[in-house]
Amino acid sequence: MFNLEKIVNLMIRRGFVFQSAEIYGGLSGFYDFGHLGVLIKNNIKKLWLDFILKEENIFLVETSIVNPSSVFYASGHLENFYDLLVECKNCHTRFRYDHYLKGEYGKVKKDNDKYFCPLCDGILTEPKKFNLMFKTYVGSTEETSNEAFLRPETAQGIFINFENYLKKYRLKLPFGIAQIGKAFRNEITPKNFIFRIREFEQMEIEFFIHPNDHFEWVEYWTKRSLEWYINDLGLKKENLFVYSQSKEELAHYSIKTNDIYYKFPFGEDEIQGIAHRGNYDLSAHIKFSGKDLSYYDESSKEKIIPYVIEPSWGVERLFLALICDAYDEDEINNEKRIVLRLSPKISPIKIAILPLLSNKEKLIKKAKEIYNYFKNYYLVYYDDSGSIGRRYRRQDEIGTPFCLTIDFQSLEDDTFTIRDRDSTQQIRIHFNDLLDYFKEKI
Ligand code: GAP
Repeated sequence: MFNLEKIVNLMIRRGFVFQSAEIYGGLSGFYDFGHLGVLIKNNIKKLWLDFILKEENIFLVETSIVNPSSVFYASGHLENFYDLLVECKNCHTRFRYDHYLKGEYGKVKKDNDKYFCPLCDGILTEPKKFNLMFKTYVGSTEETSNEAFLRPETAQGIFINFENYLKKYRLKLPFGIAQIGKAFRNEITPKNFIFRIREFEQMEIEFFIHPNDHFEWVEYWTKRSLEWYINDLGLKKENLFVYSQSKEELAHYSIKTNDIYYKFPFGEDEIQGIAHRGNYDLSAHIKFSGKDLSYYDESSKEKIIPYVIEPSWGVERLFLALICDAYDEDEINNEKRIVLRLSPKISPIKIAILPLLSNKEKLIKKAKEIYNYFKNYYLVYYDDSGSIGRRYRRQDEIGTPFCLTIDFQSLEDDTFTIRDRDSTQQIRIHFNDLLDYFKEKI
């Protein structure tokens, strides 16, 4: 696999991703997405919606990003959602303690019970808790009663709407409530480009089940997620694996968690968690809101508090995994080529429409006709600047699976060449057959 630096270079050079607030020196852990990046993120989210809405009994919701502190007091995030940090007493750099111990900042230096800074050898402080939530105030006065937080996961918005869903949608177990939305974490050390950032998007399902039939649902969602990655997104099977968290690693709400790991160039790491949250959240919100969030089980004629299985995906991590998986370099006619071998479903642009020569009016006119036709079906891109070889390369770099070229023969017999990104092979197809060809391939 190619190193991360090459991938970051391509992403920045071709405008997929930008450092946020770049003209003011940037803000660490925040990124903006350019046109091509947004298109890929949208494709991921659309494919995810297609996937989950084909599952039975999944309902969508969109909840607010800012919630009052009462929500996170109840959910345990105020008390438990922290990382341990250590700080160098000399250079004052802060490190996430667990990452420090794993050697992620460099060699761990220890003498008796003291640890030393990987940067300047200064003594590190004792680990202290650092809550990862961003605090804000709602309204014009900064007093405790107005304290609110940017959500660190989209999940809580779902739990606090549980009663609404039971009442308005009359749902029967098992059912899932799903949401795509931003989450925020004040990570101690954001790193690896868009892998660990402070503002990111999650796609989460809180899947409510009867407490009698719980653990198999963790395996169910693990299996279905893997199938989705491989069959729908085109991720390479050999780069994915499942890691079952140890008891010490589990989040404060979890009984069991399977993580799906991707083999990134910087090491294998989590792209998705599938957590068994038991009835931790619903019970907590019952206790602190005083509302009855139980479910009436008709078969046993009893009120129960459902259990929750939660598959949770990170859009940016998946984005990065897809790019790492697709990035390739090869040689065409003795010239180095960078190519993103993305699945056509993920590619931001599906077809590039290219007149063979950029100074022949008849070719350009015909190419624009073709462009105007295909833009009704796919996201297509018209380009007539530079040599045809360079235009192919530009499309290869952004992962466009097909280039459709209009040449002089096209003007005579309405046939066009289609160049395949991965093989660079060209075939000639009559206009009448083009749409069927693309429908099959895209
Ligand atoms: N509601 C459960 C939850 O939030 P998590 O394992 O903390 O669980 C779920 O997060 C997913 O969100 C992760 O697998 C990852 O894809 C994404 N994620 C979490 N923190 C992130 C960060 N700092 N930057 C980018 N993505 C992140």
